[in-house]
Amino acid sequence: ARTCFFNKLHINLDIFKIRHICVFSIKKLMKIKENLVFLGMMGSGKSSIGSLIAEKLKLNFVDIDKEIEKELGASIKKIFETKGESYFRKFEEKITLKNLKLNSVVISLGGGAFENKNIRKEVLRDNISFWLNWNENILLDRIKNSKKRPLSFNATDNELIDLIQKRSNIYSKALYEIKCDNLSKNKIVKKILKIYETH
Ligand code: S3P
Repeated sequence: ARTCFFNKLHINLDIFKIRHICVFSIKKLMKIKENLVFLGMMGSGKSSIGSLIAEKLKLNFVDIDKEIEKELGASIKKIFETKGESYFRKFEEKITLKNLKLNSVVISLGGGAFENKNIRKEVLRDNISFWLNWNENILLDRIKNSKKRPLSFNATDNELIDLIQKRSNIYSKALYEIKCDNLSKNKIVKKILKIYETH
């Protein structure tokens, strides 16, 4: 009876091992398919950091703002002016959800995209998301004089600070927060790659 018990234990352990190996391999395979998604305020470096990461990982890079401009044949500024923000937001949702269906790409979202519930849900489902977080004064300096960002044209400094604070609550739902203050672009990239390797 004792030998029988140990045999059973042995078989059970083997099954456990096989199951473990299977789950591990499936997870590995799934990791290959996961997208890296960058989110954060205007001026946080989603496009520049995102494209550097894509280059390092030899993955394709998708900049959602650029995709929208390509599809509509107009700049974001022009789209806001001629069609209005709510048209832009609907189109942004459509293009973003379409691109999130891709596998193994690096995606940079528009600064307001993560406020959209459908986009947020999809990003958080099976993508590796990174919030590029900067001190609000650094962001303010970068965006307040931007000619191509419709949301920052007419806003006062206080309104922009409010927007940064309101959005930070939402951005914080990302899988990883990257605190970028005092870091060079190179250091930020290294930090992200390290997280990705051990994810
Ligand atoms: C927006 C950010 C912009 C662009 C649009 C609206 C926002 O993208 O999608 O002007 O609501 O913050 P960037 O974050 O790439 O500047």
